[in-house]
Amino acid sequence: LDADDRPSVIWLEFQSCSGDTEALLRARAPSAADLILDYISLEYSEVVMAAAGHQAEEAKHQAMERHKGKYIAVVEGAVAAGDGGVYCTVAGESSLAIARKVCGNALATIAVGTCATYGGIPAAAPNPSGSISVKEAVPSATVINLPGCPLNAENLTATIVHFLTFGSLPATDRFGRPRFAYGKRIHDNCERRGHFDAGQYAETFGDRGHRDGWCLYKLGCKGPQTFHNCPTVRYNETSWPVMAGHGCIGCSEPHFWDTMTPFYRR
Ligand code: SF4
Ligand code: F3S
Repeated sequence: LDADDRPSVIWLEFQSCSGDTEALLRARAPSAADLILDYISLEYSEVVMAAAGHQAEEAKHQAMERHKGKYIAVVEGAVAAGDGGVYCTVAGESSLAIARKVCGNALATIAVGTCATYGGIPAAAPNPSGSISVKEAVPSATVINLPGCPLNAENLTATIVHFLTFGSLPATDRFGRPRFAYGKRIHDNCERRGHFDAGQYAETFGDRGHRDGWCLYKLGCKGPQTFHNCPTVRYNETSWPVMAGHGCIGCSEPHFWDTMTPFYRR
């Protein structure tokens, strides 16, 4: 894309581990450099921008002013809404206030990772910081959810490319997730599925069935309840949890930390 055609992106970071940014920085096709230099114009990102402090905040405010109603907001991390938002502040402003301002004036918002999409681990019971998702924080905003712990960067690129190509966000499911990435169960595309159908299960980590690629259901795999394209897209085209020998823990499902536990059966 020509420099003028690239959409401006403001990438916010709230209550997160930066895992989604880290996933993006390690993406291979396209790489973070390709994405940032060729597809988008990244105006603000606390992790990768050169500016810091007042200079960084100034860059954010200028970008919002210059591209009002036309930029894309990307949000990583949960919004802390409890006790007036005191549990997460950036440059003296609460994450709640920042989300309302930045997402409220964006053309569209992409919530990346499970914390931004559902509140994630900060919102796990008893949720002392009153953490909520971006959509809950800014109900009027157009938000698409790309959950995962972390996000698969290929799904972010595909969402942005869809937006650039068709001028609209891709079709979503009832949780605001794009169907192209979250339309199928993990279980239905899993390479260990043949063993599930044959009744061949690993009984303990490290046993012969586990080493031979048998199904991990009896070890606690949540693939049958989880929708995500991990088996087909993989992370960095290399691997994904079940391929590495660990059951799916349902990280792309709402409130997985509370609803999918215990993660292990034995
Ligand atoms: Fe399904 Fe998990 Fe077994 Fe794969 S390992 S077939 S996702 S239960
Ligand atoms: Fe998460 Fe399960 Fe994929 S744990 S990364 S949805 S295999």
